[in-house]
Amino acid sequence: MLKHLKTKITNKTAVIGIVGLGYVGLPLAEAFSKNFNIIGYDLNKQRVKDLKNGKDTNLINNKIKIFNPKLIFTNNLYDLQKSDFIIITVPTPIKKNKSPDLSFLNSAIDSLAKLNLKNKIIILESTIYPTLSSVCIKKIQKKTKLKVNNDFVFAYSPERINPGDSLNRLNNIDKIISVSNKSFAYLIKSLYRTIIKRVHTSSVLEESELAKIIENAQRDINIGFINEIVMICHKLNIDPNKVINLASTKWNFLKFRPGLVGGHCIGVDPYYLTHKLKKINYDPKIILAGRVINENYHKYLVNFLNFKKKIKKNSKILIMGASYKEDCNDLRNSKSLELASILDKKSKVSIFDPHIQNKKKYNFVKKPKRNYYDIIIITIHHSVFFNQKKFLYKNSIKKDGIIYDIRNAKFI
Ligand SMILES: NC(=O)c1ccc[n+]([C@@H]2O[C@H](COP(=O)([O-])OP(=O)(O)OC[C@H]3O[C@@H](n4cnc5c(N)ncnc54)[C@H](O)[C@@H]3O)[C@@H](O)[C@H]2O)c1
Repeated sequence: MLKHLKTKITNKTAVIGIVGLGYVGLPLAEAFSKNFNIIGYDLNKQRVKDLKNGKDTNLINNKIKIFNPKLIFTNNLYDLQKSDFIIITVPTPIKKNKSPDLSFLNSAIDSLAKLNLKNKIIILESTIYPTLSSVCIKKIQKKTKLKVNNDFVFAYSPERINPGDSLNRLNNIDKIISVSNKSFAYLIKSLYRTIIKRVHTSSVLEESELAKIIENAQRDINIGFINEIVMICHKLNIDPNKVINLASTKWNFLKFRPGLVGGHCIGVDPYYLTHKLKKINYDPKIILAGRVINENYHKYLVNFLNFKKKIKKNSKILIMGASYKEDCNDLRNSKSLELASILDKKSKVSIFDPHIQNKKKYNFVKKPKRNYYDIIIITIHHSVFFNQKKFLYKNSIKKDGIIYDIRNAKFI
């Protein structure tokens, strides 16, 4: 199996199946399709139909794409049978009670187990908590009666892609991979090396599982820390932005910016970790500290603006930015929308986000009005806001109105 697959990678005849064609799966499929035949499988019929027509609704520009003809899109699970490698990139969100929602992952594994997985390499890229790869392996073994490492190989390689980031792209973000069978590590590394510059391997699945989740938990804690510093500065009546800039002049101060933490990674992964920690009877002291602050930071900001007497009954408020982060159109767990819901109870809130197409529930505006708003709150730093700075907020605010920039924690 090893030799056979090595040859297939070298002569580029290996076939790669990708399960889930979202923010992670599609770019991966596109990158691999430069060298290999790719079968992109997704449950979502509309997504597959759109992709077949060159339409990727996850992009902020609406340009029609011409995909490499080596990449085919399908809703038919059995098309994956031809694959030598199957990469799983399905969502791993949390439920309302913050516990992991593994329904997508379980259903993907159940589906794959219907195929003949003999001699296939299965690589899981979705974010999970430690030991879940082993759970997936056991499930596959039970359902297929195949034996891991004898009949199939399982690897865990968490995705680190950062949509909307023009510097850290798929090909220059270091990749980590843990492989169930050591002798296959080099093979899988060589596959990823066709699209990614630096690839690091480990032979313990749990190492990559934990590595991924602590990356995001650490970022959550750091942003939570800086958000708390903003709150402290407000209490002391000093300028947080100046304090952060002064502290940043020291070589080892970590300059994180304050902000709303939404999305499906940073705000979710700490809960995956603590879910596992509960199971092993470990009571974490720090892991959720960022969550405590970040879950409620938008509520704190409403109180702060109220305290400063900046919000009056029926104030006209413009929120600039709705996606969970800059330069993308992903609304999952958007804190800007939660902020809008709270403010809307007392004021008239409009939202401006040029990257969001689906504007049903909230009062999205196509263009901010001129000299109209009492308050503008900039929640997300989309590049386009700053390209057109002059019109986009300076001309939209009333003469005596205020503009608050959450990312810089300052009135401008
Ligand atoms: N989006 C990111 O920036 C990012 C970055 C790093 C890691 N991740 C992780 O990668 C994983 C995928 O995230 P995403 O943002 O690409 O999700 P997504 O929602 O954009 O895409 C997932 C796709 O999987 C499909 N799907 C769901 N269940 C399926 C099944 N059983 N079979 C086939 N297709 C199925 C969905 O229809 C969807 O198109 C998650 O674990 C996430 O935490 C995401």
